[in-house]
Amino acid sequence: MGLHRLTAITLGVPDPTATAEFFTSFGLRELGDGRFATRDGGEQLRLEASPRRSLHRLGVGVHDRDDLDRIAHRLTSDFPEIRHELRADALDVVEPVTGLMVELTVAPVLQVDDVPVAAVNSPSTVERVDVPAAAVLGGNPVQPSNLTHLVYGSPDQPTTLRFFTEAIGFEVSDAIDGIIAFTRCGEVHHNLAIQAAPCAFVHHVAFEVDGVDDVARGGTAMIEGDPERHLWGIGRHAIGSNWFWYLREPSGTYVEYTADVDRISAQDLYRPKDWSGHEFLYALGQPPPPDFLEPPDLATLVELSA
Ligand SMILES: [Fe+2]
Repeated sequence: MGLHRLTAITLGVPDPTATAEFFTSFGLRELGDGRFATRDGGEQLRLEASPRRSLHRLGVGVHDRDDLDRIAHRLTSDFPEIRHELRADALDVVEPVTGLMVELTVAPVLQVDDVPVAAVNSPSTVERVDVPAAAVLGGNPVQPSNLTHLVYGSPDQPTTLRFFTEAIGFEVSDAIDGIIAFTRCGEVHHNLAIQAAPCAFVHHVAFEVDGVDDVARGGTAMIEGDPERHLWGIGRHAIGSNWFWYLREPSGTYVEYTADVDRISAQDLYRPKDWSGHEFLYALGQPPPPDFLEPPDLATLVELSA
C-alpha cells in the first residue's frame, strides 16, 4: 500500500506543561520543545499550546519517494478538490471535512529489538518455578514502544473515511456502518479509527507496549497517587483483540496502553466479523464508563468549533 505506519501526531492542548507531565509519567521520553519519543518509534508526539484540545497534524510514513509521487498523482487526477502540496521530502494533504493536516513522509519501518518473553505457568506447561512473576516485582517503568493508533471523530464520517481510504490509501479492517471504521496503514489491525461525532476531536491515542503485563503495570503506576487519571481498564477489545487500559490526560484526550493487537497480512485473507450490537466495544473486563462513550467536554468542543 506504500503506507507503513503512523509517524507522529501534534496535539493542541490548553496547558502543555500539565499534559507534558502526564506523558512523561506515561513513559514517553521528553526531547524538549514539547516533543516526545517512544522507545522504538522515535519522535512521535508534539504538544502545542491551543485554546482547546485538538489534533493539529497527523504524520504517516511511506517507504520511498515513489510512494509520495504516486499519492500526489492520484490526488491531482482523482481528487482535485483536495488541497495538497508535494515538497522535496513530504506530501502535505488537508482533510476536507476537519481541515486536519496529514503529512506523509518517507520514514524507516518500525524496528523493534526482541523483547524477552516472560515465563508463564499454566496447568499444562510450567515455565517458572521458585520465583514470583517478574511483573509483580516491579522492575523498570513501562516504556511504550510506539504510537499505534488514534480514534478521530468527524462530523462527516463517510467523507473523512473516503479521504483516508480512497485518497491517502488506508485500508479498512473492520467497520460498523456510519458509526466507526477501523483503518490501517500497515499490518497493525487499526492505526486510525474514524468515528461519527458532532465535531472534529480526538477521542483517544494509543501506545503499544510489550504485553498484557505492561498494560497492567503501566495503568497501575499511572493511577497510583492520581486516581483521577483512570478511565477504563484493564480489558480486552473485541475488534482488534487488543488489551487496553485507558487514562485521562489533563486536557481531556484519552490515552491508552495497548498490547497484542491483531495483525493483517493481506486484505483478502482477513475475514471481518459482523460486529453488530455493542460487543465491538469490549470482549473482556468491565463495561465502558459513560465518559468513554461521550467525553464530558464534547458539548464544549462542539460549541467552540461552531
Ligand atoms: Fe484504542
